[in-house]
Amino acid sequence: MAVFKSMQVLVITLVSCCVRGCAAGRPLSDTNAFTPFQYSKFQKNFFVAWSESNVAAVDGGHTLQLSLNRKSGTAVSSTNKYLYGYFRASIKLVSGNSAGTVTAFYLSSQGHNHDEVDFEFLGNVTGEPYVLQTNIYANGIGNREQRIFLWFDPRLKFHTYSVIWNHKSVSMYVDNVLVRVFQNNEVHGQPYLTKQPMGVYSSIFDASQWATRGGLVKIDFVNAPFLAHYTNFTLDACAIDETFAILHTETPCATPTSTNWWNAEWFRSVPASRLGQMHWVYKNFLIYDYCTDRERYPIVPFECTAPLLAYEN
Ligand SMILES: *[C@@H]1O[C@H](CO)[C@@H](O)[C@H](O)[C@H]1NC(C)=O
Ligand SMILES: *[C@@H]1O[C@H](CO)[C@@H](O)[C@H](O)[C@H]1NC(C)=O
Repeated sequence: MAVFKSMQVLVITLVSCCVRGCAAGRPLSDTNAFTPFQYSKFQKNFFVAWSESNVAAVDGGHTLQLSLNRKSGTAVSSTNKYLYGYFRASIKLVSGNSAGTVTAFYLSSQGHNHDEVDFEFLGNVTGEPYVLQTNIYANGIGNREQRIFLWFDPRLKFHTYSVIWNHKSVSMYVDNVLVRVFQNNEVHGQPYLTKQPMGVYSSIFDASQWATRGGLVKIDFVNAPFLAHYTNFTLDACAIDETFAILHTETPCATPTSTNWWNAEWFRSVPASRLGQMHWVYKNFLIYDYCTDRERYPIVPFECTAPLLAYEN
């Protein structure tokens, strides 16, 4: 009986996954409908995960506003989880004194041993620069912080932040400039983000303890509410049922032969032009890199010295 019950659960899970289209490996067909952004469409694929009253649609529904006040920050979450794809948002960061605040756009599988890809924007006092911190978790292990200044003031207008994630690499872009790559080194025994579908999240919260000048400058609620604006969310990605992903190591939307555009060679490897961009960013804007922090990592983490898979052609 117990066996029969669990079989039934399995069958139902697989069927519901197929109904949602992921078993066929098709990306969600309605995702590109996010540009131009309409809050009503956004609500079909996202929900408020923390504090409804701090989320608003402004600019005639073309902009999502997340706010942080004395009472609370807020977070929105995608309804689906995804295994590989393209994830993008245009964000305008908190203007004025945003010290102590963090605005985030990230992917996460949540829970124990989770995978995660983070854009975290660390606020600052008026006139001082925002910092972009990126981090990548594979199988619960993170601590891969990199911090850069941006080559523009991210409070003045919308800029686009995106992630392309496939079975070979995670690439992170700022306005189409590559700022970070994390490649699959599973053949060398290193964990990579291959098995756990991730949700898409955006949030704003009080991080006075660590965000600005390492926690020296705290949030000043006299300036509240702190407002972060988002538009043009794009999820061109493979929505997949978590149980299905666990049961099938070779999920249809994840296989290297899949026709999904984000699996193309150009996005699996790092073409010289994009590598050049990344080096330009590191040379001019890098503040902190865990790869060179010998106090934290007496032994250089594997991915820091592993040769990047270069684009062949
Ligand atoms: C959002 O997308 C629309 C339609 O593609 C475009 O016209 C607009 O400039 C975009 N907004 C931002 C801030 O990128
Ligand atoms: C804030 O400004 C200070 C002074 O320019 C700078 O050292 C710091 O990196 C900036 N950003 C953060 C998040 O602390």
